[in-house]
Order: sequence, then structure tokens, then C-alpha cells
Amino acid sequence: METLTTVAELRETIRGRRAYLKRIGFVPTMGYLHAGHEALMRKAREECDLVVASIFVNPTQFGPTEDLDKYPRDLTRDQELCRRAGVDMIFHPDAAEIYPRGNDTWVNVEAMATAACGAFRPEHFRGVCTVCTKLFSIVRPDRAYFGEKDFQQLQIIRRVVKDLFLPLAVVGVPTVREPDGVAMSSRNSYLTPTERQAARVVPRALALAQELVARGEQATEPILAALESLIAGQPMARVQYVTILDPETLAPMRVLTHEARLLLAVFIGKTRLIDNTALAPKAPPPPAV
Ligand code: PAF
Repeated sequence: METLTTVAELRETIRGRRAYLKRIGFVPTMGYLHAGHEALMRKAREECDLVVASIFVNPTQFGPTEDLDKYPRDLTRDQELCRRAGVDMIFHPDAAEIYPRGNDTWVNVEAMATAACGAFRPEHFRGVCTVCTKLFSIVRPDRAYFGEKDFQQLQIIRRVVKDLFLPLAVVGVPTVREPDGVAMSSRNSYLTPTERQAARVVPRALALAQELVARGEQATEPILAALESLIAGQPMARVQYVTILDPETLAPMRVLTHEARLLLAVFIGKTRLIDNTALAPKAPPPPAV
């Protein structure tokens, strides 16, 4: 497994193999890898002849007061996980390689990037879409793998690929969870042991929403109110947003007329965790005969 740091090197190394490869899989990451990333890599390994992973903490997707400088990094450990998951090549550029002096091109999705996380992280998705488009253009994969844990990101990237006619398929991979239901995330490493316990309120909120829908609730307002009040019961937690959206357009839904996506962001102490789940309304009873 090679680790390459420049665009020229990566392109050259892939170029030699492209002719006899049927399918190139790509897993973009910001490193500090965990079982969630490993699931993306294993899926790519199953489906592709060559698997490329990028490890790049993308500065343009962090706001001025966010955690860019303290974002966790451990390249040696990441390389080990990649090797175990069957990755063939790691792309690990520095910021000047991806954003050379004079960089002035941005990829911006409009409405979808203002919902949910976008309302609180105004430049975030511009940074994500720009870096992913650059990485797609460098690697030229046939398939790119993204976790459902970042559902809004996944749907926005699908939109970019569709709108720009990029020649690749975006594959969504289900969220990997700890045994107590907390979603795997590099940011879980910020949590103290007590905060980690408190973080369980997040999967509990998702489960409560599913339970209410299974009992027949179709209006989203009472569901959201019940989740807010459940989370308020955990003193270390503070809701940033809880919302129920159409999974394709990310527009808010007032009534569950079809499958929806519940998304939330909750601060546990100073750490912001996000999670989501599908909400499938109960099928209406068959008409009486
Ligand atoms: O999900 C992430 O880790 C990042 O947003 C991504 C897709 C690697 C872009 O920097």
C-alpha cells in the first residue's frame, strides 16, 4: 500500500493501472479513522479492483471558530487501518497541494446546503463540495463511498455529481454504531467518559422518533417536541437542531406522507455530535370491504 502526497504522483500511479482496471473505488476521509470508515473501505474493496482512500483535513469546511487545529490526526494508525481494510493507495496531500496560491473556484450547492447543519455552519458544505469535486477530478473514481452518518453531506454530494454530470456513482453506506447505539465519529474522541455516557441520549432520541412513528404519529411537530424534551432531560446535552426533512430535497416535512429523514445535532459539553435516521410512516390500513 502506497501513501502519495502530490496530485502528480497520484495521477501518474493510477494512470499506469487504469487501462487494465475495471473499477476504481474512492473513500474520501479526514483521517483519525474508525470502524465507520473501515466499513466504507471494505465495501469499496468488495466492489472495486483498486481502492484509493484520501486522508485530508480539509480547512475550507471548518468555520473560523471550529476545531480545525485540534481535529485529531494519527497517520500511522490510519495507514494500519487502511492496510487492514484492503486499501491500495492513500492520498495524503497538504493544504497547499489542494488549494494552491490563487485558488479561486468553489463548488456551491444552494438550497440543500442551508438546511440542518448548513444553518449553523454557513460555509461548511461549500468546503465539502469543493474538496470532493477536486478529489473526484484527481482520482477519477468509478465509485465514491460516503457514510450515511453524514446524511446531509451524502445527499448534497449526490446532487453535485448529478448536477455536474460527474462520471461516478455515489454509494451510501449505513452508519456503524458502538454497542450502546452511539454513532462512530472521529469527534467522539473529544468526549470525557461522563460525556460519552451522556451521548447515549442521541441514539435514544432516534429510537423514540421511530417508536412514535411506529405507533402511528404522522405529524412531525409532536415528534420533534418529544425529542427536544427527551434531550433536555440530559443535563450535559444541548440541542442545536432537530429536524425532519424530505430525504431528496432536504426540505422540511410537516406530515410524514412518505419516508422522511430525521436529522439532529446535539452538543454534549463542547462536542457537537450529529446523527440521523430514516422515518418510514406506517402504511395506512387497507380499505374496508
Ligand atoms: O466526511 C468527511 O470526512 C469529509 O467531509 C470529507 C467527505 C472527507 C470531505 O472533506
